[in-house]
Amino acid sequence: MKIEKTSHSRIRKMNFKNIDFGNQYSDHMFCSEFKNGKWKNSIIKPFGKIMFSPISLVFHYGQAVFEGMKAYKDKNEEVFLFRPEENLKRINRSAARLEMPTIPENIFMIGLKNLINIDRDWVPKYYGQSLYIRPFLIATNGALSAKPSQDYMFIIISAPADTYYKHPLKIKIEEKYSRSASGGIGFTKAAGNYASSFYPTRLANEKGFDQILWTDSSTHTMIEESGTMNVFFHLKNKLITPKFNDNILGGITCKSILSLAEKEGFFVEERNISVSEIIEGLQTGELREAFGCGTAVVINYFKTISYKENNFDLPNLSEKERISLYFKKRLLDIQHNLSEDPFGWRV
Ligand code: COI
Repeated sequence: MKIEKTSHSRIRKMNFKNIDFGNQYSDHMFCSEFKNGKWKNSIIKPFGKIMFSPISLVFHYGQAVFEGMKAYKDKNEEVFLFRPEENLKRINRSAARLEMPTIPENIFMIGLKNLINIDRDWVPKYYGQSLYIRPFLIATNGALSAKPSQDYMFIIISAPADTYYKHPLKIKIEEKYSRSASGGIGFTKAAGNYASSFYPTRLANEKGFDQILWTDSSTHTMIEESGTMNVFFHLKNKLITPKFNDNILGGITCKSILSLAEKEGFFVEERNISVSEIIEGLQTGELREAFGCGTAVVINYFKTISYKENNFDLPNLSEKERISLYFKKRLLDIQHNLSEDPFGWRV
């Protein structure tokens, strides 16, 4: 792999005390090209613009998939990735569904590890902070006919990250729009899934909600995800999350919470959960907590859930009483190498 280091590091301009997530990027990026059926020209080079033909398929038919993952520092400033092999598996599931080539393990892992090693100073060192890593695969072949591209580029960039949401969330149960449909691409991290959520999310934001609680596209009676997060409900002493299916993204944070919860003896259920069950839980007070989880957000709890213009406030628990904050700390402690790693998740 070729490595071209920047002669103008931007690290001195980076204010780690006030991280503006998504607007500041590390010095380098990794790129690898897929051409004539082969991966080639892997390179780490300075972060910068890339040029493609205006007829590249990514611009017209949305052949684009991505991942979200993080690197953390421990107190000795050693850097750890969290379950990177899960991201590789998932980007390849996404790629296969969008008729794109899969990324070989050595290209993904060697590119990723070298990139993060070169940019290790960009990994923030405070608890809860991380370097958010964005691998993505795009179709670069130029043709206007609607068929899969011949050429692709796999790129990895990264950005320092802090707490994603700075407050508990006000959520609206969606009754009209949906983010995915049965047989579709909801289980993938396809770029278009996110683009299609922007309009309904803006409508929800205009009504004062932070995010949407997505429901199934045919009946809008079953819970799927919230915003870009998987969801958990602490209901009747059980931790319940909608079972992954082809409408729901298989979140790595969600899977990790499930593994921790099971190991620690919590009653866990992965199953379909209906809007009416949630509303009943809100009315009776048996729904103690609801929270979203994902790589970017880690875990964030909900304050209010709204359905058909009725706002239901969740119980006002102390921090100690919150199962969401318990699992957030468990995960962050493992990620920052502050506790043992019973599942071998740190790399
Ligand atoms: C992630 O949590 O990694 C996501 O993909 C959310 C992102 C849209 C910021």
